[in-house]
Amino acid sequence: MESFGKNFLKHSSPQNMKPTPHQRGETQPPLEMPYQGDLMYLPSVQTMTMPRIDLEAAMTYRMSQRKYDFKPISREALAYALYYTQGVKRTIEHKATFRTVPSAGARHAFETYLYINKVDGIDSGLYRYIASKHALVLLNVNVDAKTMKEACLGQRMVEDASVTFFWVADVQRMTYRYGERGYRYLFLDAGHIGQNLYLIAEQLQLGTCAIGAFDDDALNNALGIDIDRMFVAYAAPLGVVLQNNK
Ligand SMILES: Cc1cc2nc3c(=O)[nH]c(=O)nc-3n(C[C@H](O)[C@H](O)[C@H](O)COP(=O)(O)O)c2cc1C
Repeated sequence: MESFGKNFLKHSSPQNMKPTPHQRGETQPPLEMPYQGDLMYLPSVQTMTMPRIDLEAAMTYRMSQRKYDFKPISREALAYALYYTQGVKRTIEHKATFRTVPSAGARHAFETYLYINKVDGIDSGLYRYIASKHALVLLNVNVDAKTMKEACLGQRMVEDASVTFFWVADVQRMTYRYGERGYRYLFLDAGHIGQNLYLIAEQLQLGTCAIGAFDDDALNNALGIDIDRMFVAYAAPLGVVLQNNK
């Protein structure tokens, strides 16, 4: 029986690869998708005093949390989580960014979309994190929590959490350098981002849960992304964990 997975592995192995756009001397795609609208700058993590946590403790006590109190988190907590999942530490202009997570060839091909449900001082709606500016842009105020939940196959945590992160791959940014093999790296890169959110949630005494189960078409559509060049790879809520709920 034909296996798409095995075929993909075969066709993305170095000996079967065609020259990549990079090898053909084509121009590199931009480091970030263009944005429209006003930037809402987020507080810098350097100005924040967050609770300290031992790394071993964060890894030990981290667990997936699926039940949330419908309570707001602070703008600082959101800014902190965004910086430590995708924040830009250094940029080589038009060439590469270096961020708080690793990325194959420093391609950093993800854009973070956010469904903000309850964050202090920020209206609910759909936003994008502009990593280069450590700022948000509003995309759509008319998206509701129920739509996002349904696109995630009815997973209730999306409706109850303070915010849900959607990591959207800008495919060309990765395949420019690595061709079809770049798809492997996109999924690997997404894993690092998700793990950082788990660790940061632990530090902030909040909860998260990786989400890989979603209706691709419904979610791509809800986020309004250009499916010819982008797809949602991974998602995760962040919120106040419901206590005494066994
Ligand atoms: C790639 C990936 C996708 C996942 N997707 C979902 C999901 O859609 N819904 C969910 O409730 N948990 C999801 N999880 C969470 C796992 O179920 C969870 O990590 C696992 O049960 C182990 O529990 P722990 O994280 O508390 O150690 C996902 C985890 C990973 C790594």
